[in-house]
Amino acid sequence: MAMIKQFLIFASVVTLFTSCSQQDNGIRLLDKSDFETEIDGKHNTLYTISNENGMTVQITNYGARLVSVWVPAADGVFRDVIWGYPDIDSYLNAKDKYSGPIVGRYGNRIGKGQFSIDGTKYQLVVNENGNQLHGGPRGFSTQVWDGRQFTDAEGNQAVEMSYFSKDGEEGYPGNLTVKVVYSVTKDNGLKIGYEAVADAATIINLTSHVYYNLHGTTAKSTDSHVLTIDADYFTPTDAQLIPTGEFESVEGTPMDFRNGAAIGNGMDRFDYEPIKFGNGYDHNWVLNKKSAYGKAGEVYEASTGICMEIFTDQPGLQFYAGQGMDGKEVGKRGEVHNKRSGIALETQNFPDAPNHDNFPNAVLRPGEKYTHNTVYKFSIR
Ligand code: GAL
Repeated sequence: MAMIKQFLIFASVVTLFTSCSQQDNGIRLLDKSDFETEIDGKHNTLYTISNENGMTVQITNYGARLVSVWVPAADGVFRDVIWGYPDIDSYLNAKDKYSGPIVGRYGNRIGKGQFSIDGTKYQLVVNENGNQLHGGPRGFSTQVWDGRQFTDAEGNQAVEMSYFSKDGEEGYPGNLTVKVVYSVTKDNGLKIGYEAVADAATIINLTSHVYYNLHGTTAKSTDSHVLTIDADYFTPTDAQLIPTGEFESVEGTPMDFRNGAAIGNGMDRFDYEPIKFGNGYDHNWVLNKKSAYGKAGEVYEASTGICMEIFTDQPGLQFYAGQGMDGKEVGKRGEVHNKRSGIALETQNFPDAPNHDNFPNAVLRPGEKYTHNTVYKFSIR
């Protein structure tokens, strides 16, 4: 009897300890069963990868999409620093299709949805003011990718997402085979590696369109985030956000993030035309490091102590401050997606590059391989 009693006390201490430690780190993962479904005849599920520090990332097949990114804050409690929804139905019905996915075949805008390669003109399917945005209405963010969880060569937990985009899809020429690998590194990096090959000349610009909020809740505005972008120039646009082809200096403008600035400082500078056109920040910065792999910038939120550094081999960074949200959509933990409560920091080629000879090349030819490597690295300050 005494032994049974002792065992029961031991068992309840163990249970108490485990549930306390679960509560202590604050992580509340989304449930795989809420993502298990068939979409367009393809299986959709939820993958969870983590590292030894507890940083945990969840990804679903629909749009090869990041749905949770849990990182430690200064108080020792983890925060989910991306916005999104609690289940697949909410993602399928969301007004903004760009919460967390890979966008392509061409991320951001192509003016009039038109471009030429070697003198042949192509017309893409348009989906915004007669232009194409993020690969069209049935772009990569709306497709169900094939997923595979594995351990990479460095011993990191990883998920590979692959997609076959048919010749003519959304108006793009050539069959394109795309692979994106997400991994969680030992130093709290969310690594995203992209690869693609085509069987005919095409254009490509893949990026990850995630809304970050380093408060860990969309109840708090990202206006207080201090953003640094290592860029002396940005690419100004017309009123429809199509680049004019110029490079404009950030010097003395609200676009100057070289020494770090709170996002809220410049968001309402409607006297400055680019801010008026974007209704806030929604622009591409020309990274000083060009296409070499290096640091593009960082974001820091003092109240949680979370810092997110961005490393990439891409020449541009699109910074969009979530001003298009109306607070009507309810996301994870019942939090609404308020205006200015999530920022997208998309490493990429420049918007509309296929139509500007002075922008980096966006054409992928048979026999070549498109590659893109980006790391969002989290730390505490
Ligand atoms: C951004 C783009 C914004 C908006 C957003 C998706 O990349 O620059 O203008 O379209 O995606 O809502």
